[in-house]
Amino acid sequence: ESSLKTRWAGKEIHYFDRTDSTNIQARLAGEAGASHGTLAVAEIQDGGRGRRGRNWISPAGVGVWMSLLLRPEISPVSASMLTLVMALAAQKGIKEATGIESQIKWPNDLVLNKKKICGILTEMGTEFMEIKYVVIGTGINVNQEEFPEELRKTATSLYLETGKKYHRSRIIERILEALEEYYGIFVKTEDMSALLEEYNEKLVNQGQEVCVLDPKGEYRGLCQGITKTGGLLVELSDGTVTEVISGEVSVRGV
Ligand code: BTN
Repeated sequence: ESSLKTRWAGKEIHYFDRTDSTNIQARLAGEAGASHGTLAVAEIQDGGRGRRGRNWISPAGVGVWMSLLLRPEISPVSASMLTLVMALAAQKGIKEATGIESQIKWPNDLVLNKKKICGILTEMGTEFMEIKYVVIGTGINVNQEEFPEELRKTATSLYLETGKKYHRSRIIERILEALEEYYGIFVKTEDMSALLEEYNEKLVNQGQEVCVLDPKGEYRGLCQGITKTGGLLVELSDGTVTEVISGEVSVRGV
């Protein structure tokens, strides 16, 4: 039984025992005219996808593998900020469903004890330079008891960090509720201005030294939080502040 208290988020759910990728399913639903707030969820993904062409391991029954279809009336330029909005919602939803306080790793991962528990992949469908739909895919490692060797240093699950198993459906419900609320705030201004403070409070490495790796090279600086357009401010050793734009950059603590 569901106790979902939303007006539109997850009001229509496409459930799959098994699918390639819920992002693909949500995109298909988007092309077929499904409404704003439609959710695709799967028990297992055979072709789960991550950012930068990586794959996302999505075993059966232990994670939240879901993709939310949105039809925002915003400029395509603003769409990438929806990923930050989802990061906030996932952080809050996990907190409310489990009591676990994770942190945001800019732009859109959640970490617990510095290891990744959640990743977000946003994809956009456009038509005549306008947004037709946006799909926000969210993967959360909930009850995994182990990870492949090559991931153990960087990834973990809620179970591995706390020794407890959690209800995935409750996590999904609380995230959808939080998302609906944050989304409403975001679309008013089409930027992060009203959510910036909360995002920065939850930001891992805030006020600490970070290492930024972009196509031009590697440099260190002090992490000063995000701007209202979603970039990350980093103060360099000579005192200048640069704004790191998400994309081909990686930021890590030192
Ligand atoms: C990343 O951190 O690289 C993003 C991972 C996104 C994974 C989720 S799981 C549900 C949805 N379907 C996919 O194929 N990917 C996203």
